Amino acid sequence: MRVFQVENAWSDDNLRIGERPDPVAGPGEVRLRMLASALNYRDLLVPRRGYGSRMQALPLIMLSDGVGRIDQVGSGVDAFHIGDRVCPLFFSTWPGGEPSSEHMARSLGCESDGTMAEYMVVPAATVAHVPAHLDDTEAATLPTAAVTAWRALVTEGRVKAGDTVLVQGTGGVSLFALQFARLLGARVICTSSSDEKLERVREMGADVTINYRSTPEWGRIARDAAGNGGVDHVIEVGGQGTLAQSLRAVRPGGTLSLIGVLGGGAMDAPLGLVVTRHVRLQGITVGNREDFLAMSRAIAHSGMRPVVDRSFPFEELREAMQYLASGRHFGKICIRH
Ligand SMILES: NC(=O)c1ccc[n+]([C@@H]2O[C@H](COP(=O)([O-])OP(=O)(O)OC[C@H]3O[C@@H](n4cnc5c(N)ncnc54)[C@H](OP(=O)(O)O)[C@@H]3O)[C@@H](O)[C@H]2O)c1
Repeated sequence: MRVFQVENAWSDDNLRIGERPDPVAGPGEVRLRMLASALNYRDLLVPRRGYGSRMQALPLIMLSDGVGRIDQVGSGVDAFHIGDRVCPLFFSTWPGGEPSSEHMARSLGCESDGTMAEYMVVPAATVAHVPAHLDDTEAATLPTAAVTAWRALVTEGRVKAGDTVLVQGTGGVSLFALQFARLLGARVICTSSSDEKLERVREMGADVTINYRSTPEWGRIARDAAGNGGVDHVIEVGGQGTLAQSLRAVRPGGTLSLIGVLGGGAMDAPLGLVVTRHVRLQGITVGNREDFLAMSRAIAHSGMRPVVDRSFPFEELREAMQYLASGRHFGKICIRH
């Protein structure tokens, strides 16, 4: 089968199409004929060995997100059938419950081979059905960015109707967070570097928009716009570059979900505000199978559709990664197999 993998050394230059033997489903496993994949920011770091020694030895098949149709079912598998459309889950080791080192030991496209293959064989316990109304590229976006936003707002955050949620930027995680916040009945404040993208989030229902380039001191503006002492929940993807503003925006007792460090990974913020405002600083690393199932039910029930900016053919993974790195995208970038 054809795969897109980092071949014999860690570098962007060694990202190539290669051949592997077709895998066969063993007991307890299913084989997926892959239909589509999706990119995440982390995939830009993978070919440079950005996640260190815990990564699988080379060659490594790229990408954590994808959807496939089951074409082989191993013995002992009852919950899935040939023809089912499923996503392989980000963590193959986290069925539910609290995070732990064991639960977060293996993720696709990093500690184990990812979705850029014609076929994937995985334990049946590590896949989940996808909402029927989604097309293949939309369904492929769910395991990483969508589960991250869901776990931040719902599982950990317990956001409720009437709360105000602030989302930073218009990338994959943040647009899912905008959509989920609206499903929950929350008000949404959205920041972006682009007025054109802010116009698009207003069309998606964002209540307040702020350009973080032209208004670098956006924290106080967001707090005033939220009323009630400030924002209830911040989806923090900027890290070092944005944390100080987020701490000005959040209300006493509010939550900051620390998801990404696009603007640097060091702590450079007035930590006294965390103390005096009783801020809950909650780290998030994707989520588990239970998160995926709960989120999938909400998406199916509401008819929500992920925002796919653009999709590329399988052969153009490198071009898709360059487009992601350019930051011109709005929402998700996908691959058609
Ligand atoms: N913890 C987890 O489980 C988890 C899961 C998924 C992703 N992440 C992390 O979350 C971050 C976002 O991931 P993603 O896949 O959503 O990325 P993405 O699709 O590439 O989106 C990034 C967007 O964030 C905005 N942005 C870029 N640099 C920024 C900065 N310095 N400050 C504020 N906003 C900035 C930009 O929006 P505008 O163009 O609108 O300005 C950009 O389009 C990454 O750091 C990623 O590694 C973490």
